[in-house]
Amino acid sequence: MRIRGPTAQSIAEAAQHLQQGGLVAFPTETVYGLGADATNERAVAAIYEAKGRPRFNPLISHVLDAREAQRCVRWNALADKLAARFWPGPLTLVLPRVEGSPIALLTTAGLDTVAIRAPSHPVAQALMRAVGRPLAAPSANRSGTISPTTALHVAQSLGERVPIILDGGTCLVGVESTVLDLTTPAPTLLRPGGATREAIEAVIGKVALSDALPSGDSALKSPGQLRSHYAPARPVRLDSTSVGTDEGLLAFGPEVPSGAILTFNLSPSGDLGEAAANLFSMMRALDRPGIGRIAVMPIPETGLGFAINDRLRRAAADDDEKPRR
Ligand code: TXA
Ligand code: MG
Repeated sequence: MRIRGPTAQSIAEAAQHLQQGGLVAFPTETVYGLGADATNERAVAAIYEAKGRPRFNPLISHVLDAREAQRCVRWNALADKLAARFWPGPLTLVLPRVEGSPIALLTTAGLDTVAIRAPSHPVAQALMRAVGRPLAAPSANRSGTISPTTALHVAQSLGERVPIILDGGTCLVGVESTVLDLTTPAPTLLRPGGATREAIEAVIGKVALSDALPSGDSALKSPGQLRSHYAPARPVRLDSTSVGTDEGLLAFGPEVPSGAILTFNLSPSGDLGEAAANLFSMMRALDRPGIGRIAVMPIPETGLGFAINDRLRRAAADDDEKPRR
């Protein structure tokens, strides 16, 4: 495995590797993705293998812009409005597969819908331009573990399973893209993420909330939404206003309880954007020997706080999918 800086040469080599059906981890503004040619079934199969995914979950197809998206999905007026406001950026749209769509069936796990987004990270864009095809990419980590926001996280999680990692620095958004389903009668939020619900509603009006969100309790609609998808190995205790002596603390805001073995503050000033960007790396840093449990302070349920709390609730969920280390 090689971590490469994003030079013209490393991008050209990575692109060639992708065109030949190989895997490349690359930075996006949200988290690092484990990319493959989205039109090549065999290449996409290698993603599931490298991630150790228990089953085929549909993957997001990454494109340069709305024009490229229109070759893959049946576009509509809502998609047009949303793309004009949020692309390139952290919003994924679920749309019907268009006839003749080049997206491999395995990319969508056999669904007749496609999740698609245009990332804003310049390295992701340069890579896609060089490849000339959409890239399928889930987060570049082993299934069920915390998403990577640095090239080093990718290397630690996937090791030799990924031959090339393009290093584009720390991801600025830090949580995954928002997934919005436009195939339902009312647009439905399947996963809160980097594009806030408030900002989306300012463009298209009220959105429905999927009952797959962890506050709900019915069957999963977004098949990738395992409750413990973002799990550290240690138990997580939410809404903590005090800490136990065996706990590490994930703090938020200026007033931090004392007594933790180790404390990281998502944002001492209480800024939710800063907190999102720090979330996964600080959760990783607390998920270490000597710490019995991770206590997390309350985070407001507005703006990016909605996505942060969604990931935290998943991290706290203790079910059979949770990896044990
Ligand atoms: O920020 C991100 O979205 C990152 C970067 C790499 O782009 N990618 C990412 O991919 O988080 P992944 O595979 O970890 O999550 C994809 C999400 C899952 O929740 C999956 O269920 C949902 O998108 N999804 C994909 N295709 C879908 C479809 N056709 N219908 C409904 N949900 C879909
Ligand atoms: Mg993931």
